[in-house]
Amino acid sequence: MSFSRSTVRAFIRAQRATGRVATFASRRIFLSNGIRQFGFKASTGAAFGGAALMAAAVTVSQQPDWDQIRAEIASLLDIEGYDDGSLGPVFVRLAWHSCGSYDKKSGTGGSNGATMRFTPESGYGGNVGLGLARQVLEQIKLRHPAASYADLYQLAGIVAIEEAGGPKIPFRPGRTDAADGKACTPDGRLPDGGKTQQHVRDVFYRMGFDDKEIVALLGAHALGRCHLNRSGYEGPWTNAPTTFSNEFFRLLIEEKWELKTNGAGNKQYKNSDDTLMMLPADMALVQDPKFRVFVEKYAKDEQAFFNDFVPAWVKLQENGCKGLAAPVAFKAAPAAVVPAKPWYKFW
Ligand code: HEM
Repeated sequence: MSFSRSTVRAFIRAQRATGRVATFASRRIFLSNGIRQFGFKASTGAAFGGAALMAAAVTVSQQPDWDQIRAEIASLLDIEGYDDGSLGPVFVRLAWHSCGSYDKKSGTGGSNGATMRFTPESGYGGNVGLGLARQVLEQIKLRHPAASYADLYQLAGIVAIEEAGGPKIPFRPGRTDAADGKACTPDGRLPDGGKTQQHVRDVFYRMGFDDKEIVALLGAHALGRCHLNRSGYEGPWTNAPTTFSNEFFRLLIEEKWELKTNGAGNKQYKNSDDTLMMLPADMALVQDPKFRVFVEKYAKDEQAFFNDFVPAWVKLQENGCKGLAAPVAFKAAPAAVVPAKPWYKFW
């Protein structure tokens, strides 16, 4: 068996990024009645079982201990048996979809408020699957009640990107939580993977992004995969879906892509051996000449991608937020977290 240069590079980086696995060997996903469970019933939300047990370990503080929270998020990422072994990608998607409701003109939506916890937003088609990420993060919220959900979701995105080998991203806390779903924005603000450049521009221009920022942000599709039962699309974009890299751009250009109909009846692009995928919205980045300039640049130069990704992500996560604090000066090496009980034991 031979591996491409990029696969080897991604593997080495993934090893580096997951060097802490041994410390958290107790993390498990397990099967119950044939359904994957994460230590609590999928529908219990904030009131999941074992809250009392967790509460015993809570140190209540008025000021969130961001170093500790950062370390706890990192400790939740690696997970045996789920997707590609990491919750990082779904944390990144949670963070981005919390922000993706923003409308610059009306000033509505965005990460402030964490309105995705409420109906109707929690039930929007674009947010299917993100309840899992919210539920996993609930245990951190219980231990750190002074942190808002809105800040927690954004920090989870940042930590997931950094732990996957991505760039360091400044985190400015100070978001507050909405009390109910009144501030939920209408459905239809998130992008549709089956549409192309006009739609992608309509959605991201509405949030105040330009073409360079759009391409840089979509580079996050180096991470994770599509799930037929969530979005109606299937498969990973890259061979190293737990590593934040410029692979998405390289593959967009170098692979031979063919439009095929998937098991849900949706059209998506597949590579020559059917192992990787691109959405029609991803493919728009190489089909549109103005987008393509940036795809070519990032495919050749990962550092250029990182350099443009960071300010675009900061803008995304701060759109619509007022009065945020100065960036948190995280300690260089966060202490490893060993929860008193394995995280999945709430009973
Ligand atoms: C045109 C814009 C975009 C479209 C149409 C789009 C569409 C999608 C779709 C259909 C999925 C699969 C969901 C699933 O089945 O679980 C997905 C996953 C994902 N998206 Fe996007 N996305 C867009 C932009 C972004 C941006 C801006 C980011 C972050 C900066 C992002 C990060 C992710 C990640 C990390 C996943 C993987 C989630 C997982 O593995 O569970 N996407 N996206």
